Amino acid sequence: MTIVIAIDGPSGSGKSTVARAVAAELGLPVLDTGAMYRAVTLAALDAGATLDDATTCATIARASEISVEDGVTMLDGRDVSREIRGPLVTGAVSIVSAHREVREILVARQRAWVARHGGGVVEGRDIGTVVFPDATVKVFLVASEDERARRRHRDEIAAARAVAVEEVKAALDRRDAFDAGRVVSPMRAADDAIVIDTTNLDVDSVVTEVVARARSSEAR
Ligand code: DC
Repeated sequence: MTIVIAIDGPSGSGKSTVARAVAAELGLPVLDTGAMYRAVTLAALDAGATLDDATTCATIARASEISVEDGVTMLDGRDVSREIRGPLVTGAVSIVSAHREVREILVARQRAWVARHGGGVVEGRDIGTVVFPDATVKVFLVASEDERARRRHRDEIAAARAVAVEEVKAALDRRDAFDAGRVVSPMRAADDAIVIDTTNLDVDSVVTEVVARARSSEAR
């Protein structure tokens, strides 16, 4: 049986942390699909493309060789792991990822990645709804706005990017509203997803719950 764990939710909800821990526990590889959208966005910015132009962005996506493995993102042979987390890409990624044509290309690559790896933990915004509607376990993580802004702010400081927490919160709100409000594959919990509020939860208890669900589905 191929095990696919879908982990969706807004930024700062704890997806990456939970995905990595669940993957380690179950011995599965993990795919960060946000990194793929970020890599295409970087390629579009580098090419000086008009980001609103779906056809151009799709052409760039098709031509870009992207690999996301073990936390390292490569774009056309270049390690862009750090660059894709910078403010330019973060400010533009919602526009590029809203294009249906771009999504079709990346969704096909995400499915191929899971087929190649024989399963995996996949994190994103539309994994349980669109990419893997038959996933073994679907989780949708949420957390309060303040807590998510605090976590993202911590990431920014750790990456030596000085920015005020209010600024992080405003950017996060804008991006989440855009990701949830877009026409194509909006961010939302699948009807059969377990919704977990991580505001006051430690990572271990979330991981324990997801792993238990995966093991019981596997046993069935
Ligand atoms: O998870 P992240 O913050 O790195 O994702 C970056 C952006 O990519 C996010 O604002 C929306 C988009 N995204 C998406 O549309 N679908 C996904 N499956 C993953 C990310």
